[in-house]
Amino acid sequence: MSLKDRVAIITGAARGIGRACAERFLADDVAGVVLADIDSTAASSAAVELDPGGGRVLAVPVDLTCRAEVDAMVEKTVSKFGRVDILVNNAGIAGPKGALEEQTEDELDRIFAVNVKGPWFACAAAHSHFLENGYGRIVNIASIAGKEGNPGLVPYSMSKAALIGMTKAYAKEVATLGILVNSVAPAVIETEILAQVSDEVKEYMISKIPMGRVGQPEEVAELVLFLSSEQCSFSTGFCYDISGGRATY
Ligand SMILES: NC(=O)c1ccc[n+]([C@@H]2O[C@H](COP(=O)([O-])OP(=O)(O)OC[C@H]3O[C@@H](n4cnc5c(N)ncnc54)[C@H](O)[C@@H]3O)[C@@H](O)[C@H]2O)c1
Repeated sequence: MSLKDRVAIITGAARGIGRACAERFLADDVAGVVLADIDSTAASSAAVELDPGGGRVLAVPVDLTCRAEVDAMVEKTVSKFGRVDILVNNAGIAGPKGALEEQTEDELDRIFAVNVKGPWFACAAAHSHFLENGYGRIVNIASIAGKEGNPGLVPYSMSKAALIGMTKAYAKEVATLGILVNSVAPAVIETEILAQVSDEVKEYMISKIPMGRVGQPEEVAELVLFLSSEQCSFSTGFCYDISGGRATY
């Protein structure tokens, strides 16, 4: 697999799964990768660590809930690297754990703004560039929660189901244009997002995984690499499992 001459935007790439994807893309000769994150300090540090020589990695501060900032993220990518071929909509938040009736409308809105509207803004902003190239690969990082639903995380589960829905619908709109849109549904992956959920929820999630362990960000990055590459050529609109056997559909 090679990403030679390709330019990628990865949201939420300052750490966790996004950062692991950036590292994997660099190992596969990506021409340029944008680490787009609300945490500009962490994104800048990651850029230096991943690309000490500079030139192939650009950290772009962005709050995905703000459409103008998302548009600027895509423009900065094109102005630095001349093109954009790959969009990994990875940034996401779990939100606080709680029963449906205890959660607030503000929490629900925030989770949807980051997990659903952000990726929608980013797809819309990148669309014309992909059309121009006659080529695009979009990978939306959803969650097993969006397929099966996790108790205590209703808004998060709703948002990830929405992201899977967007993947399917948009993929059909652009299926003949060289733009492939897929999503992945990880189960528990060892990253800092887990700090947002209680030990009880974490244990519940692990108990559902036949392999009996959490996954690593690097394992997700391998799947994202394939879905971002030219080798992925006849799959679109699908949600790929990466759950240690939890979901078999
Ligand atoms: N870790 C897991 O167990 C797991 C399981 C299933 C799905 N996922 C999904 O994978 C994705 C990555 O998860 P992770 O575990 O690496 O998370 P993480 O919390 O380690 O990293 C998320 C990154 O997104 C950034 N971010 C948050 N809000 C943002 C915003 N408004 N604008 C721009 N950037 C923002 C954060 O600063 C952070 O760098 C998320 O969408 C998450 O829902 C994770």
